[in-house]
Amino acid sequence: GNITKYIDPGYLNTVSGHTRVSFVDGEQGILEYRGYSIKELAEKSTFIEVAYLLIYEDLPTIQQLEEFSKKIMNHSSLPIELRNIMSCFKNDAHPMGMFISAMSGLSTFHPEANPALAGQSCYDDPYKRDKHISNILGISPTISAAAYRHKNQKEFNNPRDGGYIENFFYMLHHEKGTDYQPHPVLVKALDVMFILHAEHGFSCSAAAVRHLASANTDVYNCIAGGAAALYGTLHGGANEAVLRMLMKIGSKANVPAFIEKVKNKEEKLMGFGHRMYKCYEIRPKIVKTIALKVFEVCGREELFDVALEIEQIALKDPYFIKRRLFPNIDLFSGVVYKAMGFPPEFCPVLFAMPRLVSWLAHWSEFLDDPNRKITRPQQVYTGHRNRKYVPQCDIK
Ligand code: SDX
Repeated sequence: GNITKYIDPGYLNTVSGHTRVSFVDGEQGILEYRGYSIKELAEKSTFIEVAYLLIYEDLPTIQQLEEFSKKIMNHSSLPIELRNIMSCFKNDAHPMGMFISAMSGLSTFHPEANPALAGQSCYDDPYKRDKHISNILGISPTISAAAYRHKNQKEFNNPRDGGYIENFFYMLHHEKGTDYQPHPVLVKALDVMFILHAEHGFSCSAAAVRHLASANTDVYNCIAGGAAALYGTLHGGANEAVLRMLMKIGSKANVPAFIEKVKNKEEKLMGFGHRMYKCYEIRPKIVKTIALKVFEVCGREELFDVALEIEQIALKDPYFIKRRLFPNIDLFSGVVYKAMGFPPEFCPVLFAMPRLVSWLAHWSEFLDDPNRKITRPQQVYTGHRNRKYVPQCDIK
């Protein structure tokens, strides 16, 4: 039939469903989580409170927040078998590959989350859904810290009670016999970074989670699939790609030559452009303010000046103006993480950790969607037809 005319690569003009999780207006640069502006949440809320809001639709009472936090912290220890699996990776294994493997591996500890074993209705009971949600949010900092420490084979430290971000820092950096205390400015900085990265509608990774959920895949493998989509350098992996791009450029003086390569399509300007935003969105602006606070504690990261120079030049260049290309959330985020001491390859993990909240909110919302159907797009076939099989040896 005439389906050809409906082909929509990248789903630029395809709406796949309704959502109540966040509102994005790309023309105006508006981003609201469950109706609250991202600016206000970044200024006044905390990551755990925003996680509750995104997953359960309303801001929590003090008691609800305490229960939610406690449930998450109670799920933060890693099964020993999973820790052993993670310890077997190559010494230079990319942390995101470890994160995705561990998240998928976690599914093998939860047969009750597997519709194939526990039945199609295993997520109908909100209590069961909440258990997996807090399990995934609780174990993610532990998996991430294990991936971070893997490279230098440092003895792994168990979590301890404390705030979500403090506990993460403790697992990353505490050494036996020392009294490590995370710096409060860095804890606050990472908390706000996590709020900014927590959700963004039907992004490539959230759409991937919905795609997998539509097949009734268990939640752990839906999340692993979302993390795999996020890992791409065009999506959340862009924060690592930006850092490597900035390192390759090296200094402000080399920026004009690099911009010329981008305009000749020899390079892509990582950290620029967005499917929805055709204006300078607010998240990178907030990331820049966080960068300055982190620099006061950790010292100024020189790649920040290279990124600022890129922004300065590109925003005035007709090539970028014509294509409505602006900085996106990834342009400065890697610089903040590098200043805090994280290597480039850990940046996608620092995107995945908060973005788990989005994936869980979309997973749960999709399960309740009355119009949910298994995702199976149409295709237009352009290949061979009706070929007769002739064994290769018979062909003269
Ligand atoms: C995130 O969806 C989300 O919400 C994502 C995210 C979230 O919170 O989940 O915001 C997080 O993933 C941010 C994006 C991070 N990615 C990067 O920084 C990688 C670089 N950006 C590009 O790959 C690109 O801009 C995308 C992938 C972000 C968007 O791609 P689109 O919407 O498919 O746009 P396009 O590739 O069709 O580009 C339109 C034009 C093209 O030029 P022409 O072919 O018309 O000449 O703009 C050009 C592109 O070549 N272009 C770029 C460019 N991005 C687009 N040219 C140079 N450098 C770029 N970065």
